[in-house]
Amino acid sequence: MDDICIRPAVPDDAAAVNRALGQLSADMGDVHAAHDADIARFCFGPSPVFRALLAEAADGSIVGVAAFSPFFSTVYGSVGIYVSDLWVAEQARGRKLGQRLLSAVRAFGLDAWDARFIRLNVYHDNQKALAFYERVGFEPTTDTQYMTLAGTAYDALGDKP
Ligand SMILES: CC(C)(COP(=O)(O)OP(=O)(O)OC[C@H]1O[C@@H](n2cnc3c(N)ncnc32)[C@H](O)[C@@H]1OP(=O)(O)O)[C@@H](O)C(=O)NCCC(=O)NCCS
Repeated sequence: MDDICIRPAVPDDAAAVNRALGQLSADMGDVHAAHDADIARFCFGPSPVFRALLAEAADGSIVGVAAFSPFFSTVYGSVGIYVSDLWVAEQARGRKLGQRLLSAVRAFGLDAWDARFIRLNVYHDNQKALAFYERVGFEPTTDTQYMTLAGTAYDALGDKP
């Protein structure tokens, strides 16, 4: 496990980042609409909206990824890190690589944005991930509901004064 290094993704990694995120989508049964060009634009373009860390094995294969972005919370009075994606390859699971990735996300966010907490979403039926996050120290939020405005409803908001 020590031969796996965690490092920030660089522009040449766009396809590798997307492949790893695609495997997470497949594991979750999610649609994966992101193309390599989207990763290049939104992670490595002039105004990046997310960052990525990769876990790379000695043979160069990618065995983990974390994607994350900063946001400000008035409740905490500080910046938080929203982890949008966390994935460890099946053959590498159960050896603390997920925890190492989160620790590296924390270090990156503390250094880059003085971030003071981490937030993420997990599917209710993803029991293994829920147990993993709770073991790391995450606490479930019971008083909020994740809500999404998308598609025609998102477009329609543009017409409202
Ligand atoms: C959730 C995930 C990132 C954890 O990464 P990891 O490297 O396995 O994490 P760790 O080794 O630090 O911790 C593993 C813990 O999860 C459990 N676990 C989950 N999946 C496991 C697997 N396939 N094999 C072994 N243990 C697994 C273990 O019980 C272990 O808990 P323990 O240390 O108390 O015994 C990883 O299992 C994964 O990528 N899962 C599929 C994608 C996913 O669910 N991502 C999260 C989306 S919100």
